[in-house]
Amino acid sequence: MIEKKSPPLRMLFAENLISWYAENARDLPWRASKDPYVIWLSEIILQQTRVEQGLPYFYSFIEAYPNVTKFAEAPEEDILRMWQGLGYYSRARNMHKAAKVVVEELGSVFPSAYMDLIKLPGIGEYTAAAVSSFSINEAKAVVDGNVYRVLSRYLGIEEPINSTKGKKIFAKVAYELLDKDNADLYNQAIMDFGALQCKPKNPLCNTCVFRLTCVALRDESISRLPVKLKGKPSRNRYFHYFLIFSDNKLLMSRRGEGDVWTNLYEFPMIETNQDYSANELQGAQLFDSLFKRDVKLQLIGKPIKHVLSHQNIYARFYLVDNESSLKDLKNNWDYVLLEKLDSLAKHKLIFSFLEENKQLINSKF
Ligand code: ADE
Repeated sequence: MIEKKSPPLRMLFAENLISWYAENARDLPWRASKDPYVIWLSEIILQQTRVEQGLPYFYSFIEAYPNVTKFAEAPEEDILRMWQGLGYYSRARNMHKAAKVVVEELGSVFPSAYMDLIKLPGIGEYTAAAVSSFSINEAKAVVDGNVYRVLSRYLGIEEPINSTKGKKIFAKVAYELLDKDNADLYNQAIMDFGALQCKPKNPLCNTCVFRLTCVALRDESISRLPVKLKGKPSRNRYFHYFLIFSDNKLLMSRRGEGDVWTNLYEFPMIETNQDYSANELQGAQLFDSLFKRDVKLQLIGKPIKHVLSHQNIYARFYLVDNESSLKDLKNNWDYVLLEKLDSLAKHKLIFSFLEENKQLINSKF
């Protein structure tokens, strides 16, 4: 009798993963589409936020811009406005650039092949692999945070995921484990598996299909993996924002270039290099250059910590009791009506502040 050879371990991984997915897949709207444009939209949004938060954005974008031509034709301001709340506007700007390239140079046909996708602005290896595998089942493995976690644990890989060597190793094993005939299913499956089962904290190892073969579970290294090298420490910055109302209007300021949040709107502000209380702030020279002596500040809510890459921004918001206590208006400042406020592209810190303080803001207009 010829002994039946068992399939290699890597094939078993894909097989088990895809069986798991058949039972546990999330029903997500972009999965119903093979249109590379639709998939691209969803993937860029999902790089910025979690699935639940990304859904309303996905629906808004698809409704407003059902195809790449409509997306490319839209004014950048409109795209940025719709992107509000997701943060990191350069992604939205790059999307707009990519859409224009597709319309102007590719006859408005959004590419599906990896090699064509990777040439577009804002599309890196991850996005090109996701769009090409989901749209035409191209045999490219996605490697995102979920995949790093699953593979590092399953195979017990201790190499840091953000080292050059680590990236190479993970790209290689990700491709080795990929089911080359079912890249679309496999890639969706590994992402859901990472999000639902092999979670960063409290992964569900007891019910895991890989509990007998997972190296990290055997070695009790689940909570240590994946390993990540610490980057350079973040800089702390202290922003003090002023809400200044006048005749149903709110004073808004547009940021310049060369710092965070280029061209986006916020409230007039000053930055200090330490965490000043209201009293300390009022003794600062910068404050003196903006306001007259009679100004009264009322702190709104608690200070907010907003984390960017390499920067922690600590923001306080003050209601200024009297606009006449302003010394003069800067040329990047503008009083805007409530309707206009909605349509300005604001950065995420300001967008979230306005969302959380709707009642107060509305009562002032
Ligand atoms: N995260 C990023 N892309 C995703 C996708 N296509 N499905 C679920 N989660 C994701």
